[in-house]
Amino acid sequence: MSPRTHNSSLATGDVPMSSDEELVLLRALLRASDYGVLLSDSTGQDLICNPRFGEMFGFDVVESLNDGPEQVRAQMIPRVMDPEEFVQTLDEIYADPTLTREDEIAILAPKYRLLRRYTAPVLDDHMAVIGRLWTFLDITRTRRLEQKVRTQSEQLKQQSRELANALKAAHGRLHKVEDVLTQTQQQLLESEKLSAVGLLAVSVAHDIRNILTPLAIELALADQDDRAQRAESFDLIQKQVDRLSLLTHRLLGIARPQATHRAPVDLPALVAHTAELLRPQAAQENVTVSIQIAKKIPTVVGDLGQLDQVLVNLALNGVQAMHACGGTLTISLARDKGGACLKVSDTGPGIPANIRRRLFDPFFTTKENGAGLGLFSSRRIVQDHGGVMKLRSSSSGTQFSIWLPAEGAKHGG
Ligand SMILES: Nc1ncnc2c1ncn2[C@@H]1O[C@H](COP(=O)(O)OP(=O)(O)OP(=O)(O)O)[C@@H](O)[C@H]1O
Ligand SMILES: [Mg+2]
Repeated sequence: MSPRTHNSSLATGDVPMSSDEELVLLRALLRASDYGVLLSDSTGQDLICNPRFGEMFGFDVVESLNDGPEQVRAQMIPRVMDPEEFVQTLDEIYADPTLTREDEIAILAPKYRLLRRYTAPVLDDHMAVIGRLWTFLDITRTRRLEQKVRTQSEQLKQQSRELANALKAAHGRLHKVEDVLTQTQQQLLESEKLSAVGLLAVSVAHDIRNILTPLAIELALADQDDRAQRAESFDLIQKQVDRLSLLTHRLLGIARPQATHRAPVDLPALVAHTAELLRPQAAQENVTVSIQIAKKIPTVVGDLGQLDQVLVNLALNGVQAMHACGGTLTISLARDKGGACLKVSDTGPGIPANIRRRLFDPFFTTKENGAGLGLFSSRRIVQDHGGVMKLRSSSSGTQFSIWLPAEGAKHGG
């Protein structure tokens, strides 16, 4: 279907329209428009304006137009913010009939409004200038919103700058806190060690007194002429001196510097040495010390001093557990799952179930002169060596086992 031609200034598509119909439509359009519209002839005499235009400037457009072609302009001038500039611009624009311009004007009455003003020549069908069109759009709200958005985005930028600075400062503080924490941790470790030494000193002092008292008695007896009595006394003195030697050994273990010296450890020799060291004290408690060392024990790399400390701690606990009843302390050494397994077993009364959970807590002890650090430090040492410490206990005895990885083996097996 070809479009019907119609000699009309309005684009109406296929709908044919009379001039009257066009006029009705135009009026309706002008009434409905959100734009204030003013049409003047090319000399500046005002001809038509719509109600929205009057609303913007706050005067009755019909009345003004009836009062004469100059009246609309006369009504506008006192309402604009800068009347002088307003008039000057109008003169400039009417001086050039072909000029198109878009700008903004502010009006103060009846209320403050910011208007976008657009003007262009009105042409007839032959492109001759027959008048001038003015449109005005109220952009007060839009501009305020824009301003608000601008202010808010400025504030946001400022806030994010402040946040970034605060984060930077917090980061710096965090570093300082970390430093302080590291220092505190170091100090705690030191003080833990110091209090360990302190506690051990108390228990050692107690033990030394217990050793020195019979020693003094035996020395007095040994002074006598009775040869048999003297031999017995020397024997007992020897035992007390052995106990002193074990005590010194433990003290040295605690006082030894933290730094570890890893080297291949001769575990069978370590077991034999610990058993020897312990025998005199064990004998006094009616405890027999027995060792079982299997063949082909894999090489374990570790700190000899620390591992010695572990074995002494466990063995001494075993002997102390059998203090009232006597029994057997067995230290065994065997190859096990890519490493070596040391077991220290006693035939004592076992560890009550309700305290098993706390055994490895620092300072947990059930002994009058205990420091409660033997198991705590032993397990730490074993873990430092990549090993595992386990406990089995029943009413007929207790067994601590330590697994240590063989040199080059995977840890934690
Ligand atoms: N073989 C064992 N049989 C029974 N109880 C044990 C045995 N080994 C440890 N315990 C219990 O575990 C507690 C903690 O032992 P741990 O070696 O840590 O400290 P301690 O022996 O009391 O003091 P120290 O620091 O002088 O060794 C002991 O007080 C004891 O109650
Ligand atoms: Mg102990």
